[in-house]
Amino acid sequence: MTTGFRPPQPVLRPRRLRRTPALRRLAAETHVRPEDLVLPVFVKEDIPEPMPIPSLPRVLQHTRDSLRKAALDAVTAGVGGLMLFAVPAHRDPLGSAAVDPKGILNDAVRDVVAEVGNASVVMADLCLDEFTDHGHCGVLGSPDEWGEHTVDNDATLARYAEMAVVLAEAGAHVLGPSGMMDGQVTAIRSALDHAGHTNVALLAYAAKYASAFYGPFRDAVDSQLTGDRNTYQMNPANAIEADREVALDVAEGADLVMVKPAMSYLDIVRRAAELAPVPVAAYQVSGEYAMVEAAAARGWLDRDRAIVETLTSIRRAGASVILSYWATEAAERLR
Ligand code: PBG
Repeated sequence: MTTGFRPPQPVLRPRRLRRTPALRRLAAETHVRPEDLVLPVFVKEDIPEPMPIPSLPRVLQHTRDSLRKAALDAVTAGVGGLMLFAVPAHRDPLGSAAVDPKGILNDAVRDVVAEVGNASVVMADLCLDEFTDHGHCGVLGSPDEWGEHTVDNDATLARYAEMAVVLAEAGAHVLGPSGMMDGQVTAIRSALDHAGHTNVALLAYAAKYASAFYGPFRDAVDSQLTGDRNTYQMNPANAIEADREVALDVAEGADLVMVKPAMSYLDIVRRAAELAPVPVAAYQVSGEYAMVEAAAARGWLDRDRAIVETLTSIRRAGASVILSYWATEAAERLR
């Protein structure tokens, strides 16, 4: 500068707390702990070997045996819980394998409970989409005036109620209703209580959006879906509606509520955390994982830093529990 102007010397200097790693650690507002993380896992019926999922590098479709091992590894790393999804060998319009006590999901729940006991929290997805031959989250009703089959809400509730009791009998500690049917928490809670399973908790997918970021998951469960889930999952444009969904699930008796996906919905996570008098979970979904893995594989970003940054952001937004396919690895690193 030729004018001789010098800006006044700052008195307030936020950079002081960023000077050394120790100062940054001391000033950190948000921490991700291994026990905040839940690992979603996939088990597939009748496969001889675990199978890779091309769109989810390092995630496997497990055999019953390899699932037990993965569960043990996760628990040894200190994760807070496991969320089980299953791919049955046979599918039908009603998703019958979901309510079969000897179905793959129920077998897998028993296996994992036997393996890890109460050392971690064993959760099971409560939805029909892996079990129906049309891939929808519920049973289909009769066609409407345009010939479209939509998911029949109340007929689906009866299936969920049945599935819940079977999963509770298999030993699941927590059930995760993910189908976005109206009244699902009430239906499931009353069925569980009626059957004496008053201690089985519900992690309700309260604000689950109709998202493109579920793409790789549909590979992971060999999804049969054609079309979309727009008549039951939420419109990504809506936030006030999420408040209502969260309030309803809390009123219906949800023990925890979930927002899903996580990263494109951090404002919704924050609203839920402010609104809900129960812990809020966020699901870092398959597409969020795949984006980072794909970019990192090309050397376009630093994978390890990106993982910690995404998890930290979700915690900072207000989630106390995070479902993530990186849970085991992140827990090992955070310990
Ligand atoms: C449905 C379900 C889905 C996911 C979890 N539960 C898929 C969907 O709604 O289409 C997605 C999870 C992910 O993408 O990681 N039961």
